[in-house]
Amino acid sequence: MAAGAILEIRGLAKRFRARAPGAESPWIIRDLSFSVREGELLTIVGPSGAGKTTLLNMIAQTDTASGGEVRFRAQVAPLGDAKALRPGLSRQIGYITQDDNLLPWRTCLGNVLFPLEVQGRLDGQTRARAQSLVEAVGLAGFENHYPHELSGGMRKRTSLIRTLVYDPPVILMDEPFGAVDAQTRALLQADLLRLWGEGRKTIVFVTHDIAEAIALGDRTLVLSRAPASVKSEHLISIPRPRDIGGILTRPEFVTLYQAIRAEVA
Ligand SMILES: Nc1ncnc2c1ncn2[C@@H]1O[C@H](COP(=O)(O)OP(=O)(O)OP(=O)(O)O)[C@@H](O)[C@H]1O
Ligand SMILES: [Mg+2]
Repeated sequence: MAAGAILEIRGLAKRFRARAPGAESPWIIRDLSFSVREGELLTIVGPSGAGKTTLLNMIAQTDTASGGEVRFRAQVAPLGDAKALRPGLSRQIGYITQDDNLLPWRTCLGNVLFPLEVQGRLDGQTRARAQSLVEAVGLAGFENHYPHELSGGMRKRTSLIRTLVYDPPVILMDEPFGAVDAQTRALLQADLLRLWGEGRKTIVFVTHDIAEAIALGDRTLVLSRAPASVKSEHLISIPRPRDIGGILTRPEFVTLYQAIRAEVA
């Protein structure tokens, strides 16, 4: 494992089972390798259908790899055998999926407390942490609202802090701010950067939005079309703390944007 790495992906490959007997299913991911440093915010962009969600599913152990290796610290994910998987690796890997997945019968706060209840870790201290996260993302006053009574941005915030509250060392995010307007998205990005700056989790953040990938990331990987592999890697050396609004006109930003855009096309 590379020095300082918390996650390492080596020669990863994935093909799904063929739809008909005797048919060959295509490789979705092939020879994909990268590692993620502890505390890093790595962003990943790639064309739709490239295999980004499939990649996160294999890291989270909600799906098996067909070849290669996914390693979290010293633990290597089992190959091929779905029954041997440990989804979320005993709460060490948090996963914010492409839709917000809130429980509709639970309030905003009820959703945030849910993982703590399931884990048997709800006490005065964790409850206070949940409340401070609610306040940190501007949801104070909405604790007792049900998901259908929240705006799209509020649901995304709830989903974000529901994962932060139980403090997994690695968080995977799959286009977490996809379905909201540009204004709300910028606010969510600023929230994320602030919370990440305080807690320094390791984050792997998938997006199709190149500007978002640059604005948030320490480093951006560009995936090729399926079968996906890493096409290029860009270090984002724009200093932090970053001003999400102001960053778009910085010359380094524009240069990176043009380079990445030419590769994703
Ligand atoms: N369970 C499955 N069975 C068969 N094929 C699948 C399955 N899940 C995904 N695929 C295929 O794998 C490919 C990659 O899908 P994936 O969802 O990983 O792409 P993506 O990069 O996340 O796309 P998007 O940006 O649209 O979210 C697609 O061709 C998809 O049809
Ligand atoms: Mg996807």
